[in-house]
Amino acid sequence: MTIVFKSDPVRGREWAALLAEHAPELEFRMWPDIGDPAAVRYLVAWRLPSEDLGTLFPNLEVLFSVAAGVDQLDLSTVPAHLPVARMVDPNLIASMAEYVVMSVLALHRDLIAYIGSQRARRWSEMRVVPAPRRRVGIMGLGSLGLAAIERLRPFGFPLSGWSRSPKRIDGVECHAGPEGLETFLASVDILVCLIPLTPETRGILDRKAFAAMPAGAGIVNVGRGGHLVDADLVAALDSGHLGGAVIDVVSTEPPPADHPFWDHPKIILTPHVASMTQPQTAALVFLDNVRRHQRGEPLVGTVDRDRGY
Ligand code: NAP
Ligand code: GLV
Repeated sequence: MTIVFKSDPVRGREWAALLAEHAPELEFRMWPDIGDPAAVRYLVAWRLPSEDLGTLFPNLEVLFSVAAGVDQLDLSTVPAHLPVARMVDPNLIASMAEYVVMSVLALHRDLIAYIGSQRARRWSEMRVVPAPRRRVGIMGLGSLGLAAIERLRPFGFPLSGWSRSPKRIDGVECHAGPEGLETFLASVDILVCLIPLTPETRGILDRKAFAAMPAGAGIVNVGRGGHLVDADLVAALDSGHLGGAVIDVVSTEPPPADHPFWDHPKIILTPHVASMTQPQTAALVFLDNVRRHQRGEPLVGTVDRDRGY
């Protein structure tokens, strides 16, 4: 029974060592060294091979995303009956919550403006807005959004959230669906995007969304680059309507050398590192899911192919 791993080979070697220790009966191979394709039962991938998956691996039983998101997998090449599972890893979740707290605090305490002042050798202070007057809203109340909310709670920000289906979360004002979006946006001073990229959410952070937000609001995009209309963000920052943005994901990674985010004075840009799959826990989370599958139990992180996440 073979597992094929198709992602970063350096991290793949760590997966190989962990699986050799914890599941020596499974054969672990790294793409493109796939061995006998008929023996491959599990594929763990960041991106899929370009071939039709059912033809390439006729006995494949589960496709695992090496990441929490699945939009980078072109599921049109994946047979409809094949289960797809995404990565639900406690370390990945904790790391995202940490990045969100860092970004929200950076916007809350005007860090981007202070970095600009320092570069200009300008000693100029701004009034501190108390946390109870800074409203923070999380788009996406899934495993990552909920963890971010728990880490933000102790600071005392009024918290709100937006999801597809209605939710009740203690101390969080919850909004849902397209009908709840505008009210949600109008009530947040710092917006964190943690929804999956689907046809419904592509381009959701656009001129219309920014216009609905209060003047001076900040944006944290840790979802996917496709959520954001880059030119609309730049226009909203340049006009002064938005105050700043922390951007971890862009449509083309890395962005081209002339992309405006590289040196925009109101943007902090990081290279898709908010949260990375960490082999030491992810390999074991994966193995646990393989065992579940072998026992006929439901998989953790099963993707609903119709919803797209
Ligand atoms: P998840 O557990 O599946 O949660 C997704 C949340 O988004 C759910 O609350 C869902 O609503 C909501 N949602 C989905 N479509 C929506 C829509 N059309 N309108 C409103 N809400 C919608 O996903 P997760 O594990 O939290 O991950 C979220 C995303 O984070 C991933 O898909 C990935 O793109 C991104 N990510 C980024 C990084 C990074 O390093 N930057 C790392 C990991 C993940 P319901 O609750 O109603 O279903
Ligand atoms: C990373 O972006 C992930 O989806 O895990």
